[in-house]
Amino acid sequence: MIYSPQRIGLMGAGLIGREHAVLLSKNPGTELVAIADPADAAAVMAAEFGAQHYVDFRRMLDEERLDGVIIALPNALHADAAIACLERGIACLVEKPIADTLEAALRVVEAAERTGVPVLVGHQRRHSPDIAKARRMVAGGELGRLVAVNAMWMADKPDAYFDAAWRRQSGGGPLLINLIHDIDCLRFICGNIEEVMAFTSNAVRGFEVEDTASISVRFTSGALATMVMSDAAVSPYNWDTAAGQALYFPHQPENAYFFSGTKAALAVPGMDLWRHETEDGHWQHPLVRRHITLDGSRAYDNQLAHFIEVIARREKPLVSARDGMTTLASVLAISRSAAERRPVRPSEMLG
Ligand SMILES: NC(=O)c1ccc[n+]([C@@H]2O[C@H](COP(=O)([O-])OP(=O)(O)OC[C@H]3O[C@@H](n4cnc5c(N)ncnc54)[C@H](O)[C@@H]3O)[C@@H](O)[C@H]2O)c1
Repeated sequence: MIYSPQRIGLMGAGLIGREHAVLLSKNPGTELVAIADPADAAAVMAAEFGAQHYVDFRRMLDEERLDGVIIALPNALHADAAIACLERGIACLVEKPIADTLEAALRVVEAAERTGVPVLVGHQRRHSPDIAKARRMVAGGELGRLVAVNAMWMADKPDAYFDAAWRRQSGGGPLLINLIHDIDCLRFICGNIEEVMAFTSNAVRGFEVEDTASISVRFTSGALATMVMSDAAVSPYNWDTAAGQALYFPHQPENAYFFSGTKAALAVPGMDLWRHETEDGHWQHPLVRRHITLDGSRAYDNQLAHFIEVIARREKPLVSARDGMTTLASVLAISRSAAERRPVRPSEMLG
């Protein structure tokens, strides 16, 4: 079946907005109709992509006939922009985090559920074949009962990255920018998080915001995880470079997540499965490593293909507004745990 291209508006022509514009222009199922962003550079970018330029995103919504909108604005604008789309019956892909606060996230959830217009939250890793396969393997019992997980996100950001003041201030740190993706992946693969206990540190950079964190996680299933995160440490142990899926980083094949169950262990994104040769094998018997081959598709392309189906109401969002809010609550629970030096449940954050 051949459908006519979906008419897409883009809000925000910054770092990730440009990447969305490139993906849209390469996809025959979409047409980038308009870009809303008050920056001078956005007018130049709109001309480059043959799109109309708007300073005001509401004007774009009112003047253009759009099937879908991609919201790539600063976090504090996500909720108002998403609600403006929903009130006009337009499906939207809102970049992560769904909002800057849980109150704002809840406004989006309520608007989505009231209007019945779909919201897809931009946790693109869920669309990556390794993450999707890991979820199917854990859910299908290939690891037996999931027991424990070790997850890492560590990388060295350059000093110039912190020239933007908001990145040095509370809320602009790597927990909400980077680790939120790992939390979302672990929720997707292992199920909801019951409770977290965390330490954060700013010892390397000395900013108000954290540069490093260690986190203990208890999932509702009973499985436990430890996570380590830093944006001030040289390391190949982060999903972005390890999976080769990030848009502007080199591919350095490694693993970032290690899942262990009662029957087998799985390393992701390297996708090696370790298990005994026989059912009665145990730690004194050798393990056999099997490499799992994936389809080679890429997270951002798959996310856009899914968004096209969501716009057409042929698929439900893989990451709904409510799901995005739960991921945000889980990350904010980590911040609160570190600040108050006690275990915190995401459900407590959601009141
Ligand atoms: N999923 C991912 O992999 C990924 C990667 C990077 C960023 N992001 C998310 O995308 C969002 C944007 O991040 P970024 O790094 O591109 O930021 P950015 O600062 O590079 O771009 C934001 C753009 O929004 C524009 N803008 C500001 N106010 C506006 C308004 N009222 N109306 C229209 N445009 C306005 C700015 O002029 C700027 O061009 C953030 O929420 C971030 O968390 C997601």
